[in-house]
Amino acid sequence: MICFQEIPYPGDMDVWLPDRMDLGTTIVWARELSYASRNEPLTLHVPSNLFITPAGMLLSCAALRDRKVHLPREEREKLSYARWVGWTKCIGTEEEVGASGRGATYLPIQESVLWGEYHYMVESIAEETADLVNSWVAEAGIVSQDGLGGLRRWLEYAFREVIRNVPEHSGQATLLRTVQVWPRINRLQVAVYDPGQGFVRSFQRSGEYGSLSAEEAIDLAVRPGVTGAPPQRRKGTWGNSGFGLYVLQSLALRHQGWLSIVTDGFAVTYRSNRSHPTTIHRTATPAPIPGTLVAWEVDFLRLAQSDFHKVLREIVESGERTAGRKASLMSRGYLDKEIS
Ligand SMILES: Nc1ncnc2c1ncn2[C@@H]1O[C@H](COP(=O)(O)OP(=O)(O)OP(=O)(O)O)[C@@H](O)[C@H]1O
Ligand SMILES: [Mg+2]
Repeated sequence: MICFQEIPYPGDMDVWLPDRMDLGTTIVWARELSYASRNEPLTLHVPSNLFITPAGMLLSCAALRDRKVHLPREEREKLSYARWVGWTKCIGTEEEVGASGRGATYLPIQESVLWGEYHYMVESIAEETADLVNSWVAEAGIVSQDGLGGLRRWLEYAFREVIRNVPEHSGQATLLRTVQVWPRINRLQVAVYDPGQGFVRSFQRSGEYGSLSAEEAIDLAVRPGVTGAPPQRRKGTWGNSGFGLYVLQSLALRHQGWLSIVTDGFAVTYRSNRSHPTTIHRTATPAPIPGTLVAWEVDFLRLAQSDFHKVLREIVESGERTAGRKASLMSRGYLDKEIS
């Protein structure tokens, strides 16, 4: 909620953060914020018990980043997790970086710059993040040793596909990422943000799509075999075959999760419908936030229990039938290489 009242910084507009900053509530909050002029300085007020998710963190950072923001000391002191996770640094109100200490189940917001031959960097970020999450899950002791091996492969796949989309499609090289695991409810959420050109413009590069709305571009992107990459970028192991987001969406739907894409001022979320598991429950809403966010949440226990090779093969082959084209080796999780 944004309200106007007496303020400690004269001339500032007072902005209240909601108690719960998940993807949906943060979008509503950002929409209200967008009515305020970008030049207007803001004083932030924090609820005493803020709950903030990875998607909420990166979206609110994106909404606040290029604004003049004050976070008075008494407000800052009400933040615990959000501070450690690097949110205050991300919005530019504090210098220090959060740290993921022993027993932590979050990856503080990390900024990566992927340049030139970014493949090696993408692999190492994906591996490192998958290892970290696996160690939290191992500590929670709810996944068997076999399951941990499978979970690690899934996570590496998911991180790699979302991260490499940034240098390949956003038109720039910087990304923010953060991860949170809630061990008691078996949930895992990943969010990756880039300040790049968005989905609509990336589809326009190929010249195959006419003018698209943000909503149409997002719906196209999760279809198997649909890519905005120009033809010369569609070959080779790292070539774009249009399967990355489709696989992530399918994985989320099979594992009681969701995939959300926020880009070009619009947000679409796909989740499984509990009463009709074969139906995709889709919600779409305006989200006036610069850049692109891809957020993905799953039940990590279910993910750990599903066979990486078998399930990935099923998803990819079903997508290949629908699309009438093959997925790249990379989007097949190196299946061909491993099996031959
Ligand atoms: N961060 C991003 N910024 C802009 N556009 C994006 C971004 N991520 C994805 N897209 C758009 O969505 C399309 C589909 O993405 P997806 O990951 O499913 O396939 P791909 O990257 O083209 O191919 P593959 O993942 O199989 O290598 C991309 O081709 C691009 O047009
Ligand atoms: Mg991709």
